[in-house]
Amino acid sequence: MNSLYIVLAVVIAVTNVKTLGALKVQVFYETLCPDSQHFITTQLNPTFAQLGSERIDLELIPYGHASEETDANGTKTFTCQHGPDECYGNKVHACVNNLSRAIEESLHFAYCSELSHTPANVTVLQVCAQGAGISWSKVEDCLSSGLADELLSANGRKTALVDAGNIPTIVFNKIYYPNRESAWFNFKETVCQFVDCIY
Ligand SMILES: *[C@@H]1O[C@H](CO)[C@@H](O)[C@H](O)[C@H]1NC(C)=O
Ligand SMILES: *[C@@H]1O[C@H](CO)[C@@H](O)[C@H](O)[C@H]1NC(C)=O
Ligand SMILES: *[C@@H]1O[C@H](CO)[C@@H](O)[C@H](O)[C@H]1NC(C)=O
Repeated sequence: MNSLYIVLAVVIAVTNVKTLGALKVQVFYETLCPDSQHFITTQLNPTFAQLGSERIDLELIPYGHASEETDANGTKTFTCQHGPDECYGNKVHACVNNLSRAIEESLHFAYCSELSHTPANVTVLQVCAQGAGISWSKVEDCLSSGLADELLSANGRKTALVDAGNIPTIVFNKIYYPNRESAWFNFKETVCQFVDCIY
């Protein structure tokens, strides 16, 4: 009897663990957008710090309301809502995401940058990359090699697939679009509607 109960308890525990898989959360943002800054610094970062990657499978997609043109030679030019500085910031964020070994590093960097009054300032970005353990010289290689353009372009294609009417746009499990107020201002409570946050 006892061993049967133990087996049942283990089965229930394992079943629970499986149903508690991490919630896929995609954050579409742009570096100089005040609403993006506010969301990343006051909602996303503290919530991720509490719930971690076991609960939140996070993807950061810097692009926002940008557009892209390719000239006859295949050179890409981006136009960003808050001007060229924002395109630079978005590229650096995209390069850091590509270079980071874990989402924690990418978020640490994004938080540091967005906490600043000038998130796209080269000094800020450099200090934040170093703080997140990302080599600035690799970021510079990414920017000069054309990889940054490729990464931003890929982010643009991803952004075009969602209804990114408001930036930041937060997408849950690819298909669920909770109302903006809920996702922006009660992010943790919204996440916890989909994953069991009691542990
Ligand atoms: C394409 O590249 C050639 C050679 O580098 C240059 O002369 C030309 O101005 C470029 N065209 C565009 C549209 O940038
Ligand atoms: C970085 O970008 C390259 C080129 O697009 C890609 O092959 C690679 O998978 C990316 N790595 C990460 C961690 O995103
Ligand atoms: C970036 O910030 C540093 C330090 O505050 C400042 O000295 C520098 O002028 C800024 N750079 C730009 C391009 O605004």
